[in-house]
Amino acid sequence: MTEILKLENVTVRYGGRSGINAVDDVSLEVGRGETLALVGESGCGKSTLARAVLRVQPISSGRIIFDGEDISRLSERALRPVRRRMQMIFQDPFSSLDPLVSVGDSILEPRRAFDKKIGKAELDKLLADVGLSPEYARRRPGQLSGGQCQRVGIARALSIEPELIVADEPVSSLDVSMQAQLLNLLKRSVRTRSISLIFISHDLRAVRFLADRVAVMEKGRIVECGRAGEILEQPQHPFTKRLVAAIPQIAV
Ligand SMILES: Nc1ncnc2c1ncn2[C@@H]1O[C@H](COP(=O)(O)OP(=O)(O)OP(=O)(O)O)[C@@H](O)[C@H]1O
Ligand SMILES: [Mg+2]
Repeated sequence: MTEILKLENVTVRYGGRSGINAVDDVSLEVGRGETLALVGESGCGKSTLARAVLRVQPISSGRIIFDGEDISRLSERALRPVRRRMQMIFQDPFSSLDPLVSVGDSILEPRRAFDKKIGKAELDKLLADVGLSPEYARRRPGQLSGGQCQRVGIARALSIEPELIVADEPVSSLDVSMQAQLLNLLKRSVRTRSISLIFISHDLRAVRFLADRVAVMEKGRIVECGRAGEILEQPQHPFTKRLVAAIPQIAV
């Protein structure tokens, strides 16, 4: 497996000496085209780790290696070419979009930040890829449902053709039937483009559907990591066993 991302002993500490290690000595790899799910209880450090990967959260120690390059201490300027290769999909589709900006402009914004030319045909294709017709380009987020907003969030992430997407609880604000549709869309989007995905979720059924591998986090540490089928069917760590047992459909 050639990895797109490698974390080596990454620690993120909040609050100085007397603070806590929200991420504590984490080492992980994500392969090209692979979906890695990051699961664990609320407050275990998933979002902090996601932000560290995208270099929006400083790390206290360790290394973040993206496509063979240590990016953990690159300047903002040196990071620019790296930033266009990774994207984030947020939990709350409404608040992640600017209410005053049209859907079309929202989708194209990351692309324009890198001076890429993009025509209407490409915008229409991005909309079509996420199941929206071209008329939606002129709408504002307030004129969309939650599910449609998250489709826009996915189109926005896809617009720069990233190699890595980090999706932090991307469907948890949606109702169950909408979650299934959006998980399908996300899976199709990353598979057809061979995009690597870090998928953060509380929902082990969603993890089972989407993930190749699963990393289980507890109190800032990775306590178990392996193939999704193995982790979900034969969890080894007591914490993972409890997580799996909490989902009756998956418990064996
Ligand atoms: N900016 C911050 N300053 C100080 N502490 C923080 C900050 N952000 C998060 N924390 C703390 O770090 C720990 C990990 O938080 P984080 O948001 O990464 O967890 P999470 O696994 O994403 O939780 P959830 O599932 O609820 O989203 C928590 O104890 C949290 O209170
Ligand atoms: Mg979180």
